Amino acid sequence: MSWALVPAAGSGRRFGGGVPKQYLHAAGKPLIEHALDALLSHPGIDGVVVALAADDPHWPGWTVAHGKPILTCIGGIERAESVLAALQALPRDVADDELLLVHDAARPNLHAHDVSRLIDAALAHADGAILAAPVRDTLKRADEQACIAGTEPRDRLWRALTPQAFSRDLLLEALASAQADGAAVTDEAMAVERLGRRPRLVEGRVDNLKVTTPADLALAEFLLARHA
Ligand code: CTP
Ligand code: MG
Repeated sequence: MSWALVPAAGSGRRFGGGVPKQYLHAAGKPLIEHALDALLSHPGIDGVVVALAADDPHWPGWTVAHGKPILTCIGGIERAESVLAALQALPRDVADDELLLVHDAARPNLHAHDVSRLIDAALAHADGAILAAPVRDTLKRADEQACIAGTEPRDRLWRALTPQAFSRDLLLEALASAQADGAAVTDEAMAVERLGRRPRLVEGRVDNLKVTTPADLALAEFLLARHA
């Protein structure tokens, strides 16, 4: 069985009236509620820990959903700090080798089949696994004037999505090590890679989008309304 950690402490880019984007609504619910529902409705997930901003006035105070616990903690300045805080807030009876799934609060369109495939891959691979999507567009490197300085080979390049799944002890070792070394990591896999480990890439749905701009929110609305 596994737990999910949901970093939701980012003030991020704000649009739509100054509300942090994880609380913006799509298809009648805040993005974070879609994300939590997707995780907690999955039979492989036992509970979640949500990392919140210290002064978050928007959190509705949920403590249970789908009959499973929702715990909270205070996140940090960087995403990795928020995930570390969530790790430390796990119940004591979560075993060292238990699988943990880290999922962005701002990714509302996660499908159960992807969660299942990720869990299966991570259980079969000691270095963990992440959902990811192969790069489909041709990649250009820019110069300082936004002119094309070159074309990058796109074979074997993937975009990292979430959830990202690792055993509790590996994730803790990786994030603590990155923090001790002052290394900036933008996802959990990057912290694990720093240890010389090689998490597995699991091809996920490309509509598992992270909402960052108003256009993303409109797309999320479209996808979630169809799904509902
Ligand atoms: N997050 C967090 N603690 C932080 C920073 C981010 O818990 N200190 C969370 C955000 O709330 C979000 C997820 O991590 O759910 C992804 O955040 P990030 O990687 O920063 O991407 P965006 O927030 O989408 O980018 P931007 O800040 O440009 O909107
Ligand atoms: Mg952010």
